[in-house]
Amino acid sequence: MDPCILRVSGLSKSFGAIQALDKVDIEVARGRVHGIIGPNGSGKTTLFNCVTGLLKPNAGSVTLDGVDITNKPASWIANRGIRRTFQAGKLVPGMTVLENVMSGVNDGVATAAIDAAFRLPFVPSRRETAIRDRAMRILSLTGMDGSAGRWASDLVWTERQLVQMARALIAEPKLILLDEPASGWAVREIGEGRGDHREDPWHGDDRSSSES
Ligand SMILES: Nc1ncnc2c1ncn2[C@@H]1O[C@H](COP(=O)(O)OP(=O)(O)OP(=O)(O)O)[C@@H](O)[C@H]1O
Ligand SMILES: [Mg+2]
Repeated sequence: MDPCILRVSGLSKSFGAIQALDKVDIEVARGRVHGIIGPNGSGKTTLFNCVTGLLKPNAGSVTLDGVDITNKPASWIANRGIRRTFQAGKLVPGMTVLENVMSGVNDGVATAAIDAAFRLPFVPSRRETAIRDRAMRILSLTGMDGSAGRWASDLVWTERQLVQMARALIAEPKLILLDEPASGWAVREIGEGRGDHREDPWHGDDRSSSES
Protein backbone atom coordinates (compact mmCIF):
# COMPACT_ATOMS: atom_id res chain seq x y z
CA MET A 1 0.00 0.00 0.00
CA ASP A 2 1.31 3.43 -0.94
CA PRO A 3 2.09 5.29 2.33
CA CYS A 4 1.01 8.49 0.58
CA ILE A 5 -2.66 9.00 -0.17
CA LEU A 6 -1.79 11.84 -2.56
CA ARG A 7 1.31 12.46 -4.67
CA VAL A 8 1.62 15.62 -6.73
CA SER A 9 4.70 15.68 -8.97
CA GLY A 10 5.97 18.56 -11.09
CA LEU A 11 2.52 20.11 -11.33
CA SER A 12 2.46 23.30 -13.39
CA LYS A 13 -0.41 25.52 -14.44
CA SER A 14 -0.36 28.88 -16.15
CA PHE A 15 -3.07 31.33 -17.13
CA GLY A 16 -1.58 33.21 -20.05
CA ALA A 17 1.50 34.95 -18.67
CA ILE A 18 0.64 34.09 -15.06
CA GLN A 19 2.46 31.01 -13.78
CA ALA A 20 0.12 29.98 -10.97
CA LEU A 21 1.86 26.64 -10.28
CA ASP A 22 5.48 25.93 -11.18
CA LYS A 23 6.58 22.29 -10.80
CA VAL A 24 4.82 21.70 -7.49
CA ASP A 25 5.71 18.51 -5.60
CA ILE A 26 3.58 17.44 -2.63
CA GLU A 27 3.24 14.18 -0.74
CA VAL A 28 0.33 13.74 1.63
CA ALA A 29 0.79 10.92 4.12
CA ARG A 30 -2.16 8.63 4.75
CA GLY A 31 -4.12 9.57 7.86
CA ARG A 32 -2.34 12.89 8.38
CA VAL A 33 -3.51 16.49 8.29
CA HIS A 34 -1.44 18.83 6.12
CA GLY A 35 -1.70 22.56 5.66
CA ILE A 36 -0.87 24.53 2.54
CA ILE A 37 0.09 28.08 3.38
CA GLY A 38 0.75 30.92 0.97
CA PRO A 39 -0.14 34.54 0.38
CA ASN A 40 -3.07 35.65 -1.78
CA GLY A 41 -2.54 34.62 -5.37
CA SER A 42 0.17 32.06 -4.60
CA GLY A 43 -1.78 29.23 -6.25
CA LYS A 44 -3.48 27.30 -3.42
CA THR A 45 -6.91 27.20 -5.09
CA THR A 46 -5.34 26.48 -8.47
CA LEU A 47 -3.57 23.50 -6.92
CA PHE A 48 -6.86 22.19 -5.51
CA ASN A 49 -8.56 22.75 -8.86
CA CYS A 50 -5.86 20.78 -10.71
CA VAL A 51 -5.93 17.94 -8.17
CA THR A 52 -9.73 17.66 -8.26
CA GLY A 53 -10.01 17.85 -12.06
CA LEU A 54 -11.64 21.27 -12.35
CA LEU A 55 -8.56 22.53 -14.18
CA LYS A 56 -6.18 20.66 -16.44
CA PRO A 57 -2.53 21.17 -15.47
CA ASN A 58 -0.03 22.05 -18.20
CA ALA A 59 2.44 19.50 -16.83
CA GLY A 60 2.94 17.08 -14.00
CA SER A 61 0.99 14.26 -12.44
CA VAL A 62 -1.37 13.52 -9.55
CA THR A 63 -1.90 10.12 -8.00
CA LEU A 64 -4.52 9.19 -5.43
CA ASP A 65 -3.82 6.07 -3.42
CA GLY A 66 -1.43 4.89 -6.14
CA VAL A 67 -3.87 5.55 -9.01
CA ASP A 68 -3.02 8.15 -11.65
CA ILE A 69 -5.84 10.70 -11.66
CA THR A 70 -4.14 13.35 -13.78
CA ASN A 71 -6.55 14.98 -16.24
CA LYS A 72 -9.44 12.75 -15.23
CA PRO A 73 -12.91 14.37 -15.08
CA ALA A 74 -13.87 16.02 -11.80
CA SER A 75 -16.80 13.67 -11.16
CA TRP A 76 -14.57 10.63 -11.75
CA ILE A 77 -12.04 11.93 -9.24
CA ALA A 78 -14.76 12.77 -6.70
CA ASN A 79 -16.18 9.27 -6.95
CA ARG A 80 -12.73 7.77 -6.37
CA GLY A 81 -12.38 9.48 -3.06
CA ILE A 82 -11.35 13.13 -3.16
CA ARG A 83 -13.92 15.60 -1.89
CA ARG A 84 -13.39 19.27 -1.32
CA THR A 85 -14.85 22.52 -0.15
CA PHE A 86 -14.77 25.76 -2.11
CA GLN A 87 -13.35 29.04 -0.94
CA ALA A 88 -16.51 30.85 -2.07
CA GLY A 89 -18.75 28.51 -0.08
CA LYS A 90 -20.52 26.92 -3.02
CA LEU A 91 -23.84 25.33 -2.09
CA VAL A 92 -27.06 24.88 -4.05
CA PRO A 93 -29.02 27.95 -2.86
CA GLY A 94 -32.48 26.55 -3.64
CA MET A 95 -31.94 23.48 -1.47
CA THR A 96 -32.03 23.20 2.29
CA VAL A 97 -28.93 22.59 4.39
CA LEU A 98 -29.93 18.94 4.82
CA GLU A 99 -30.55 18.44 1.08
CA ASN A 100 -27.17 19.98 0.27
CA VAL A 101 -25.46 17.52 2.59
CA MET A 102 -27.49 14.60 1.22
CA SER A 103 -26.44 15.57 -2.31
CA GLY A 104 -22.85 14.72 -1.38
CA VAL A 105 -23.43 10.97 -1.34
CA ASN A 106 -21.72 8.94 -4.01
CA ASP A 107 -23.38 8.53 -7.41
CA GLY A 108 -24.60 5.04 -6.67
CA VAL A 109 -27.00 6.29 -4.02
CA ALA A 110 -27.63 9.80 -5.33
CA THR A 111 -31.12 9.20 -6.72
CA ALA A 112 -32.88 9.58 -3.39
CA ALA A 113 -31.11 12.87 -2.67
CA ILE A 114 -32.10 14.21 -6.08
CA ASP A 115 -35.71 13.16 -5.46
CA ALA A 116 -35.56 15.05 -2.18
CA ALA A 117 -34.11 18.11 -3.84
CA PHE A 118 -36.95 18.34 -6.30
CA ARG A 119 -39.51 17.68 -3.57
CA LEU A 120 -41.42 14.98 -5.43
CA PRO A 121 -44.51 13.80 -3.57
CA PHE A 122 -43.31 10.34 -2.61
CA VAL A 123 -42.88 8.17 0.40
CA PRO A 124 -39.20 8.24 1.39
CA SER A 125 -37.40 5.03 0.51
CA ARG A 126 -35.31 3.17 3.09
CA ARG A 127 -32.25 4.40 1.26
CA GLU A 128 -33.32 8.04 1.45
CA THR A 129 -34.15 7.70 5.12
CA ALA A 130 -30.72 6.21 5.78
CA ILE A 131 -28.97 8.99 3.86
CA ARG A 132 -31.05 11.58 5.70
CA ASP A 133 -30.12 10.10 9.09
CA ARG A 134 -26.44 9.98 8.16
CA ALA A 135 -26.58 13.57 6.91
CA MET A 136 -28.11 14.67 10.22
CA ARG A 137 -25.38 12.92 12.23
CA ILE A 138 -22.66 14.53 10.13
CA LEU A 139 -24.36 17.91 10.42
CA SER A 140 -24.32 17.49 14.19
CA LEU A 141 -20.52 17.17 14.05
CA THR A 142 -20.38 20.64 12.57
CA GLY A 143 -22.96 22.08 14.97
CA MET A 144 -25.27 22.79 12.01
CA ASP A 145 -27.92 20.14 12.71
CA GLY A 146 -30.21 22.82 14.14
CA SER A 147 -30.13 24.51 10.72
CA ALA A 148 -31.02 21.41 8.66
CA GLY A 149 -34.25 22.91 7.33
CA ARG A 150 -32.88 26.35 6.47
CA TRP A 151 -32.33 27.37 2.86
CA ALA A 152 -28.67 27.37 1.87
CA SER A 153 -29.18 30.84 0.44
CA ASP A 154 -29.93 32.14 3.96
CA LEU A 155 -26.62 30.99 5.46
CA VAL A 156 -23.81 33.31 6.39
CA TRP A 157 -20.27 32.70 5.14
CA THR A 158 -19.02 30.61 8.07
CA GLU A 159 -22.16 28.48 8.09
CA ARG A 160 -21.68 27.75 4.39
CA GLN A 161 -18.16 26.50 5.13
CA LEU A 162 -19.50 24.10 7.77
CA VAL A 163 -22.23 22.74 5.49
CA GLN A 164 -19.72 22.26 2.69
CA MET A 165 -17.56 20.21 5.07
CA ALA A 166 -20.55 18.05 5.98
CA ARG A 167 -21.37 17.56 2.29
CA ALA A 168 -17.80 16.45 1.64
CA LEU A 169 -17.69 14.12 4.65
CA ILE A 170 -20.90 12.23 3.83
CA ALA A 171 -19.15 10.60 0.87
CA GLU A 172 -16.56 9.04 3.23
CA PRO A 173 -13.72 10.37 1.08
CA LYS A 174 -10.17 9.06 1.19
CA LEU A 175 -8.96 12.65 1.12
CA ILE A 176 -10.71 15.91 1.86
CA LEU A 177 -9.36 19.24 0.63
CA LEU A 178 -10.56 22.32 2.49
CA ASP A 179 -9.98 25.60 0.66
CA GLU A 180 -9.67 28.41 3.23
CA PRO A 181 -11.89 26.62 5.78
CA ALA A 182 -11.18 29.21 8.48
CA SER A 183 -11.72 32.32 6.40
CA GLY A 184 -14.26 34.63 7.99
CA TRP A 185 -13.93 32.97 11.39
CA ALA A 186 -12.88 34.75 14.57
CA VAL A 187 -9.72 33.23 16.09
CA ARG A 188 -11.78 32.17 19.13
CA GLU A 189 -14.22 30.19 16.92
CA ILE A 190 -11.49 28.30 15.05
CA GLY A 191 -10.24 26.63 18.23
CA GLU A 192 -13.74 25.93 19.51
CA GLY A 193 -15.05 22.38 19.10
CA ARG A 194 -18.52 22.35 17.57
CA GLY A 195 -21.06 19.58 17.78
CA ASP A 196 -20.71 16.24 19.49
CA HIS A 197 -17.44 14.63 18.40
CA ARG A 198 -18.06 11.51 20.43
CA GLU A 199 -20.55 10.28 17.87
CA ASP A 200 -19.36 8.25 14.90
CA PRO A 201 -21.32 9.52 11.89
CA TRP A 202 -20.81 6.46 9.72
CA HIS A 203 -21.06 3.47 11.96
CA GLY A 204 -24.53 3.91 13.35
CA ASP A 205 -27.17 1.25 12.85
CA ASP A 206 -28.19 2.55 9.41
CA ARG A 207 -24.88 1.71 7.72
CA SER A 208 -25.95 -1.56 6.14
CA SER A 209 -29.28 -0.21 4.91
CA SER A 210 -27.62 2.89 3.42
CA GLU A 211 -25.60 0.63 1.15
CA SER A 212 -28.44 -1.66 0.17
N1 LIG B 1 -9.18 31.23 -13.99
C1 LIG B 1 -8.13 32.05 -13.90
N2 LIG B 1 -7.79 32.84 -14.95
C2 LIG B 1 -6.72 33.65 -14.88
N3 LIG B 1 -5.90 33.74 -13.80
C3 LIG B 1 -6.20 32.98 -12.73
C4 LIG B 1 -7.32 32.09 -12.73
N4 LIG B 1 -7.36 31.44 -11.55
C5 LIG B 1 -6.31 31.91 -10.84
N5 LIG B 1 -5.62 32.82 -11.55
C6 LIG B 1 -4.41 33.51 -11.13
O1 LIG B 1 -3.51 32.52 -10.66
C7 LIG B 1 -2.83 32.96 -9.51
C8 LIG B 1 -3.10 31.99 -8.37
O2 LIG B 1 -4.45 32.17 -7.96
P1 LIG B 1 -5.11 31.26 -6.84
O3 LIG B 1 -6.54 31.68 -6.77
O4 LIG B 1 -4.84 29.84 -7.12
O5 LIG B 1 -4.33 31.72 -5.53
P2 LIG B 1 -4.68 31.46 -4.00
O6 LIG B 1 -3.39 31.09 -3.32
O7 LIG B 1 -5.80 30.50 -3.88
O8 LIG B 1 -5.14 32.91 -3.53
P3 LIG B 1 -6.13 33.32 -2.34
O9 LIG B 1 -5.34 33.19 -1.06
O10 LIG B 1 -6.47 34.75 -2.64
O11 LIG B 1 -7.31 32.42 -2.37
C9 LIG B 1 -3.30 34.39 -9.25
O12 LIG B 1 -2.39 35.27 -9.86
C10 LIG B 1 -4.64 34.43 -9.93
O13 LIG B 1 -4.97 35.74 -10.35
MG1 LIG C 1 -7.63 30.58 -3.03
